[in-house]
Amino acid sequence: MLFSKKKEIIGVDIGSSSVKLVQMKANVDNYTLLNVGIAPLPSGAIVDNSLMDTTSIVETIKTLVKSLGIKTTDIVSSISGNSVIVRKITLPAMTPEELEDQIFWEAEQYIPYDINDVNIDFQILHSDLVDSAKMTVLLVASKKDFINEYVSVFNEAGMKLVVVDVDSFAMQNCFELNYDSEKDNVVALINIGASTVNVNIVKGGISLFTRDVQIGGNVYTEEIQRQFAISSEESEKIKITGECADASKFQEVMDRVNESISAEILRSLDLYYTTADEQKVAKIFISGGCAKIPMLPSVLSKKSNMPVEILNPFLKVEYNEKVFDPEYIQQIGPFVSVATGLAMRRLGDK
Ligand SMILES: Nc1ncnc2c1ncn2[C@@H]1O[C@H](COP(=O)(O)OP(=O)(O)OP(=O)(O)O)[C@@H](O)[C@H]1O
Ligand SMILES: [Mg+2]
Repeated sequence: MLFSKKKEIIGVDIGSSSVKLVQMKANVDNYTLLNVGIAPLPSGAIVDNSLMDTTSIVETIKTLVKSLGIKTTDIVSSISGNSVIVRKITLPAMTPEELEDQIFWEAEQYIPYDINDVNIDFQILHSDLVDSAKMTVLLVASKKDFINEYVSVFNEAGMKLVVVDVDSFAMQNCFELNYDSEKDNVVALINIGASTVNVNIVKGGISLFTRDVQIGGNVYTEEIQRQFAISSEESEKIKITGECADASKFQEVMDRVNESISAEILRSLDLYYTTADEQKVAKIFISGGCAKIPMLPSVLSKKSNMPVEILNPFLKVEYNEKVFDPEYIQQIGPFVSVATGLAMRRLGDK
């Protein structure tokens, strides 16, 4: 309808340690922030990307939405890790309509589940540079059971899941919104959460390589817990405040885990170079709660020999400073790159 108001949506990123929410208004050439918030989840609510304690997740979403005074009920959310299969495949050149008809047949060989049990989505990336009779397609598949769990969690919270995205691609959308200046460079976007690291190597709006690794901030917490023989709650607190009676032992643990997380990220970059004869990565952008770990950016920069910058999801997003304290916006930034990318999606998007 010509004059219908575009239906509002909110982006909700359900991470294993917390739920993040972002709502934005789309202007002609930028966005205005309407809402942003984060609410912790009890440990064990999500394990290995599975929603274990749905009651807690539903309650957390409800409380967060209520505390922000949100009335919108249409949700865009995302999945990652082992709950989604992302593959780049080469197919004979065809139109999107033809591919829509054929994708199930083509996808079958790449998916380790019964094709009837999965949702399939695709994006035509580009025609093959060497052979114009072929094209590269990004295939995204997720188990219907798994998506249905998300649908019912949001339903129970009184909301409606209208678009399901993938963490890596949401982070990419957020990056592209804010870093137009990088569009000619190959950059590695790395989201380091509590239990998953999402890697997406992009150039000029195209994803060249994605990989999710089950590692993250929990490793620091577990290691501190082991070294100091304390509870995981105490360990998490020490990690975040940096306040520890034995400062040098604490630093030694942090240094060691910084090294191993950086090494895992470098492994992903190496894999990118070996899977395709691609261009050299020029810069790394990190996001996620672990972007706050003091020495991690510098350790990663030293090991990779590349500049490392913390992705600012609100670099180009307008907000009213009377409503949002700029310091809070800066504090919360690393946590909400995925949720911000989700909040950019609109109904009718694929
Ligand atoms: N100030 C801080 N200093 C160090 N680490 C922090 C800080 N704040 C949060 N973290 C860590 O960041 C991690 C949470 O990050 P994030 O919210 O991005 O993860 P998540 O989305 O919940 O998890 P995932 O996506 O991996 O399932 C936790 O391990 C937490 O301890
Ligand atoms: Mg996350």
